[in-house]
Amino acid sequence: MYVSGLKAAFGILFLVLTAEGDSYHKPRVRQAEQNEYNHGRLLSRRSINGKNVVEDAEFWRKQGQDTLAEQLSITNRPIERAAKNIILFLGDGMSNPTIVASRIYKGQLEGKPGEETELEFEKFPFTALSKTYCVDSQVADSACSATAFLCGVKTDIDTIGIDANVIENNCSTQNQPENHVDSIMKWAQDVGKATGIVTTTRITHATPAGAYAHVANRNWESDRDVLWNGADPTVCDDIAEQLIKNNTGKNFKVILGGGRRAFIPASEGGSRNDEVDLTSLWEEMREAEGVRYTYVRNRTELLNVNTQSTDYLLGLFSRSHLEYSIDKGEMDEPSLEEMTQAAIDILSREPNGFVLLVEGGRIDQAHHDGRAKAAFEELLEFEKAVIYASTKTNEQDTLIIVTADHSHTMTINGYPERGNSIFGIASYSDIDLLPWPTISYANGPGYRRPLENGSRVDITNDDRENKNYKPIATAPDTSESHGGEDVTIYARGPQAHLFQGVYEQNYIAHVIGYAGCMGPGLHFCDAGTNNGTSLIFSAHYNIILYIIVFVVKLYS
Ligand SMILES: *[C@@H]1O[C@H](CO)[C@@H](O)[C@H](O)[C@H]1NC(C)=O
Ligand SMILES: *[C@@H]1O[C@H](CO)[C@@H](O)[C@H](O)[C@H]1NC(C)=O
Ligand SMILES: *[C@@H]1O[C@H](CO)[C@@H](O)[C@H](O)[C@H]1NC(C)=O
Ligand SMILES: [Zn+2]
Repeated sequence: MYVSGLKAAFGILFLVLTAEGDSYHKPRVRQAEQNEYNHGRLLSRRSINGKNVVEDAEFWRKQGQDTLAEQLSITNRPIERAAKNIILFLGDGMSNPTIVASRIYKGQLEGKPGEETELEFEKFPFTALSKTYCVDSQVADSACSATAFLCGVKTDIDTIGIDANVIENNCSTQNQPENHVDSIMKWAQDVGKATGIVTTTRITHATPAGAYAHVANRNWESDRDVLWNGADPTVCDDIAEQLIKNNTGKNFKVILGGGRRAFIPASEGGSRNDEVDLTSLWEEMREAEGVRYTYVRNRTELLNVNTQSTDYLLGLFSRSHLEYSIDKGEMDEPSLEEMTQAAIDILSREPNGFVLLVEGGRIDQAHHDGRAKAAFEELLEFEKAVIYASTKTNEQDTLIIVTADHSHTMTINGYPERGNSIFGIASYSDIDLLPWPTISYANGPGYRRPLENGSRVDITNDDRENKNYKPIATAPDTSESHGGEDVTIYARGPQAHLFQGVYEQNYIAHVIGYAGCMGPGLHFCDAGTNNGTSLIFSAHYNIILYIIVFVVKLYS
């Protein structure tokens, strides 16, 4: 009774207060005023987490000036060199709202209000926006988007490593070499750089497959999948097979992720009808090459790998995707950070440098499940991998790019107070007087059917901080969908300054090719302003010198 009385009181307050003034920006009735969800702390405009925080004019002027002075003190940018190493960090489904919410969540875990937190890649000097739509789709999936940022070519949804001439599910068009597009990994291998892929999803999932496969359907991860889809696996090679046997895939020095089942015979619990054990084949191939190799299946084995004496590393840590980091507990499965560490430690021994793809693949899947908190934890795990890479590599020779393939439908909305839990209640409706949360989805499993009287479900007493909690969604669906807004590109290192604007997503691969001096198209090493101008300059300089010598001789 008390609660509904309170709601009624809010309602009356709204009616009174909204009668005048700006009807778009009404007086805000916030959850914080109910003193319930701010980790037990009552927040007010002047007191954040119990501290009297004075963020007055002086504070913000100093903040602005400090940032400005820091920017003005930077003298070594842009870095006009070729990139010896390139690391592409791909946060699958890492939309801008996901980044903001994870940043707030991280700060709140540290006992701060949260909004002011800065993630590692947000400190990178150059940023841009990436337009993610595909040839036939307003909103991208990970297959067409991987083809864009890894191969430099946009294509149709659900297809990988081929252009839009391929008909989805059509084997004969998949096999036509003229329809294939090569990835940055192929370009790198062609100029003698080492290559590797790391992911928390199945290694045959869309994003990593973009680095090596050519398929007319992203689901063709094993020969059984091809068959199930009504296509002929003897005509169309599945993704796992392409990884182990075909060019590009077979040359990777580091392959770490999940998805063991697509590499194991069906009779041994895998999903290969052809009964080929592709992991054994990988080992036989390395043995024949006489190189130092290791195949590992769990975290213990990975951490025991001597990265100084291993040249080829295959790690398949799960039948399917790796576990969400929030659910992992004591499982013997490595984190994304640990896999990234092994990859960089092995690849950084390469004299000609390396190209590495690291995917935080399950930010996306946690969103699909409507599990916002699990998504934020995945993003923070992804950030740890970025921290390792940025501390272990040299900005002068290593280009690091952090980006996403597409957005999701999660928003941060309402007018929650500063420092309010990111899982808290944001505002109360002035129509039905019920609350809504800061985090919600446009569609997905978080949908709640209205009550019999037609009223919305009241989420006031939901356990919204629970790791399995699904914030409300407007439309019901078993899997929340991707979003179509631009995603951000963060970059540091050689040629990172080529990311300053709004670009088509496929541009990313072109910058990588230019910076690494590999693949088709422009290369810094050939057309680089340094080499070019200094040659021209020295030619002019020599002519001037001759003239001076000539004139001096003439008059002496
Ligand atoms: C695949 O595409 C080709 C060329 O358009 C066509 O001739 C063929 O019938 C298609 N095959 C299937 C199985 O759809
Ligand atoms: C993989 O390699 C085999 C053998 O060289 C070749 O026949 C096949 O076309 C290749 N598959 C793709 C998708 O490139
Ligand atoms: C890790 O994998 C190896 C090889 O499959 C196995 O022998 C070992 O028992 C596993 N370790 C743990 C802790 O599961
Ligand atoms: Zn997805």
